Amino acid sequence: MEAHELVDVAFSVNGSSVSVSVPPRMHLADALREQLGLTGTHLGCEHGVCGMCTILVDGDAARACLLFAVQCEGAEIVTVEGLGSPERQHPLQEAFSHHHGLQCGFCTPGMLMSSYDLLANAPDHAGDDELPEQMSGVLCRCTGYRGILAAVSDVHGTHPDGVPGPRNCATRTLVGRGSGPASSQAPSGDVPADEVRAAAPAEVRIPTGAPSATVLVTSELRSPIAAVWEVVSDVSRLVACLPGAELTETLPGDRYRGRAGVALGPVKLSFEGLAQILDRDADAHRIRLVGQGRDTGGSATQADIRLHAEPGPDGGTVLRAEADLFLSGRIAQFGRALAGDVSRRLFEQFASAVDESARTGAVPDVRVAAPSPVRIAAGAVADAVRRRVRALRARLRRR
Ligand code: FES
Ligand code: FES
Repeated sequence: MEAHELVDVAFSVNGSSVSVSVPPRMHLADALREQLGLTGTHLGCEHGVCGMCTILVDGDAARACLLFAVQCEGAEIVTVEGLGSPERQHPLQEAFSHHHGLQCGFCTPGMLMSSYDLLANAPDHAGDDELPEQMSGVLCRCTGYRGILAAVSDVHGTHPDGVPGPRNCATRTLVGRGSGPASSQAPSGDVPADEVRAAAPAEVRIPTGAPSATVLVTSELRSPIAAVWEVVSDVSRLVACLPGAELTETLPGDRYRGRAGVALGPVKLSFEGLAQILDRDADAHRIRLVGQGRDTGGSATQADIRLHAEPGPDGGTVLRAEADLFLSGRIAQFGRALAGDVSRRLFEQFASAVDESARTGAVPDVRVAAPSPVRIAAGAVADAVRRRVRALRARLRRR
């Protein structure tokens, strides 16, 4: 076998069965980060010294930088993403936060997975005397050890016989750079747009597990409900109302191919994707669609979107959009708040374009009529900054 040849490997990550194609020399940490978009596993030394890349393999802590991905055929892997979710954190995550065990946070995933291994597999060695040595396999460059040890000791005190298991392991679609459960692509580097298009999935998978962000936007439109529903139930007009989106192909089974662009500062993402309408209830004015897409730079999104129109005041319409968003790859690094803000603004632009289309009867050209995705993202960033400043002011006032 040549070093550049790819090998198919199947294992389970955080409860999902995945299959990746990797070069034989790719270590597990790169496969998790680059192929599956699970960037919580950090890399420091890549020599097994710093412990940043600690994960669980078949229930035991292991250095992901010292394992080749091809060694993990059939293994059960848990990464920090599987330990807990934002809504349902693991006791260790809560304790790290409570005891200020996070400084820059770079070592946190390794610390969490290492301490989980200790408390789950060897709680008898987690007493205060032994704890510093037991935790010494992960290095914190901020020297924030005090809070970390206090957190682990606290959880040991409340769970002396072993901690609860990982809380965020569920079957879900893991999609990252050039890979997904049903496909396997180039191991690294940007994938040409043609390849992405050709490799776009034929079926839409319904996302499961905890979403990266949930967005709920309610907009009051001036147009009457019948005219709004005409726009929402006509896919070509619906897509035309989404800023930066374009319908490229209509497929059987209420499925549609399209592309959408969004920019976050200097990062421009162009998604090729597939969407499917799962439910269309004309009497209740409800529609549910799921979509998934990925871009050439290794970001992937899935969305489960519900739209509901109701008669509004003064003969207008109240349009509700609720969406669960599942992000992986580069886009996931923007965090839930920013991803939520961008999506919220996109929906607001969408609602005003629907209103316009319902009023004029024309297909809107959102590239002209609505602010560009760049401005949408810039506004979302400004909102996020404003929120932080407000929180900081409130904290200073409390002091
Ligand atoms: S990156 Fe694996 S131990 Fe440092
Ligand atoms: S908190 Fe910064 S490296 Fe540990």
